[in-house]
Amino acid sequence: MSVEDIYILGIESSCDDTSAAVLHNSNMCSNIVASQKIHEEYGGVVPELASRAHQQNIVPVVHQALAKANIDKKQLSAIAFTRGPGLMGSLLVGTSFAKSLAVGLNIPLIEVNHMQAHILAHFIDREHKQKPDFPFLAMTISGGHTQIVKVNHYFDMEILGETIDDAVGEAFDKSAKILGLPYPGGPLIDKYAKNGNPKAFTFTKPRVADLNFSFSGLKTGILYFIQKEVAANSKFIEENLNDLCASIQFTIVEILMDKLKKAVKETGIKSVAIGGGVSANSEIRKVLKEAEVSMGWKTYVPDFEFCTDNAAMIAVVGYYKYLQKDFSNTQVNVKARYSF
Ligand code: KG4
Ligand code: ZN
Repeated sequence: MSVEDIYILGIESSCDDTSAAVLHNSNMCSNIVASQKIHEEYGGVVPELASRAHQQNIVPVVHQALAKANIDKKQLSAIAFTRGPGLMGSLLVGTSFAKSLAVGLNIPLIEVNHMQAHILAHFIDREHKQKPDFPFLAMTISGGHTQIVKVNHYFDMEILGETIDDAVGEAFDKSAKILGLPYPGGPLIDKYAKNGNPKAFTFTKPRVADLNFSFSGLKTGILYFIQKEVAANSKFIEENLNDLCASIQFTIVEILMDKLKKAVKETGIKSVAIGGGVSANSEIRKVLKEAEVSMGWKTYVPDFEFCTDNAAMIAVVGYYKYLQKDFSNTQVNVKARYSF
């Protein structure tokens, strides 16, 4: 098989999305995502239910990914799967499936770090997109992580700072919960914020050293503020929902941007990419674009399809590892906590 004809099947099951994708080299042929609605009624992801749903979804999702890519499984060059970080029971489903399929087809198995994949998603070929040049800074902002990473090369990454408590996605989701919004609340805060005044309410920003983040104090501050206001006016949230969402979102984005500016200053690198579910947020996308003009940055924002969890980003990491023949042993185990 020539170098031009590598087909990678990617499998992602780290949290509550079951996804499979096929890439032809770094071109996406299919990217199927089955999101689990079951968690909405519990206000957060229930690990036991997530792994059961993955088990139900994985076979149909992989079939759909192959069918949409119009290829037979015998044409696959390798299987890439998320080894971690994530929920143990969820990771086990994708990992076991990937192992069995790779053994059955007698093709290489490739383990992928989910957070590296959020960064390398920028290397999936897209006609309208430029890929970042090395080195660049990547801020990964999701429901489980908040990191600023210096990306020297595909697999040479240094974490410059990260959250010491909650992830930024949790800050969105927990604030939304305080406002009585369903899970996941991040996209709803974004939606209501569009009609609100970001300066209507002020919330204290945390003081954290270096390039690290903290979001738990902000959540507590919002909770106490809302409790006090609701005690005086039971309709406070209802009457101020748009302004509350806009103000919360404004504060969170400011916290992220303050650290990003510090990282650019300290490293001298003005090429900045974001990844992870929160990179779908319209305010962070807008503020980053503005930074191109105001601060001369070059910014890279993923297409919406690649912000939240998806297997195309797993497959693209698989592709670059395949080129290096960086394969995994079939004894490989999941890693719920997995740094790089
Ligand atoms: O990357 P992801 O799909 O899963 C994890 O690996 O955690 O990220 C999910 C997170 C959730 O917290 C969700 O509320 C947040 O991304 N999110 C958003 C938006 N879309 C998704 N947060 C703010 N604004 C959005 N538009
Ligand atoms: Zn993720």
